[in-house]
Amino acid sequence: MALHKVVVAGCGGMANEWLDYAAQRENVEIVGLVDLFEEAAKKMAQKRGLNVPTFTDLSTALSQTGANLVFDVTIPASHKQIATTALQAGAHVFGEKPMAETLADAQEVLAVASGSGKRYSVMQNRRYLKHIRALSSFLASGAIGTVGSLHADFFLGPHFGGFRETMASPLILDMAIHTFDQARFLSGADPVSVYCHEYNPAGSWYAGNASAICIFEMSDGSVFSYRGSWSAQGAGTSWESDWRVTGSQGTAKWDGDNRPVAEVVEGEEGFIRPGKLVEVPDIWTGREGHFGCLDNMFEALEQDRPAETDCTDNIKSVSMVFGALESARTGQKVML
Ligand SMILES: NC(=O)c1ccc[n+]([C@@H]2O[C@H](COP(=O)([O-])OP(=O)(O)OC[C@H]3O[C@@H](n4cnc5c(N)ncnc54)[C@H](O)[C@@H]3O)[C@@H](O)[C@H]2O)c1
Repeated sequence: MALHKVVVAGCGGMANEWLDYAAQRENVEIVGLVDLFEEAAKKMAQKRGLNVPTFTDLSTALSQTGANLVFDVTIPASHKQIATTALQAGAHVFGEKPMAETLADAQEVLAVASGSGKRYSVMQNRRYLKHIRALSSFLASGAIGTVGSLHADFFLGPHFGGFRETMASPLILDMAIHTFDQARFLSGADPVSVYCHEYNPAGSWYAGNASAICIFEMSDGSVFSYRGSWSAQGAGTSWESDWRVTGSQGTAKWDGDNRPVAEVVEGEEGFIRPGKLVEVPDIWTGREGHFGCLDNMFEALEQDRPAETDCTDNIKSVSMVFGALESARTGQKVML
């Protein structure tokens, strides 16, 4: 099995998850740690018992270690620079979401990746959960007929402190990429347009817009609606959102925590047609979360094919985020 020599860029909180993964994968060798603050990289090396060099600059790290893969777990503002530097130096990149901080930057990274012949795969851990896998394959099987609408409610009141409370659009920029990507995964369709109203409700402890309502038209004619808030106190949904999907023959629901449930109509009689509960079978045998997504990235790399969350696919989820922000700014429906 090919050996992956990995440099980790960014030694903050999330790097631990990626290093946990690397530690249990036989053909991964961590060969260097990079952080803007070398002290952070040194601390991480010590904490993890890694006897590797530390750097403040990725180019130097790549040339001195001969790494062929970069884990980008830096902050969003650094993703473009890290990914393009690595790809241009001939290394593959597996990186945290989002690809970049603007659509133009994400498109630029995509162009660099395409021209480099290297892979750039993006972390979308929330599509690697057994319940969403079950729901996605259930919908694809036609069990509730043709899907016409998908609705996601996301209501939580986290008090993060820090950068999120000063951002202009914390919910859409920092969180909604997960839900929008899940909607693409569940519908199997691409986004066509978006109308978004972003706002900051009374009592919000965020400076920017902590709430949003979005309507997306999808390529198969279905509609995806999103109602979200990060300043919703009480009666919270799960972090996966609370979903309702309606099809021509029935409805599936998923609260994000428990197994999805479905009701399919029976017969063609009655004012409201009677329905029967239908099981949504488990199909996922892989791992969940970050480990599941990283398994897919490595398997794809080793088989020389794009990962499920390759940048050429992920740009569609990114376009939903920036399309929503543009719509909120202009008050217009935006074509994606
Ligand atoms: N997928 C998820 O569920 C999930 C959850 C949390 C965070 N994240 C993502 O993970 C990423 C990292 O988040 P975090 O919580 O670890 O942040 P963090 O602030 O704790 O750590 C980021 C580290 O990157 C370093 N850094 C920044 N720019 C750099 C550069 N150009 N070169 C080298 N190092 C640089 C910083 O000094 C810092 O040590 C973010 O993109 C975030 O959105 C994803």
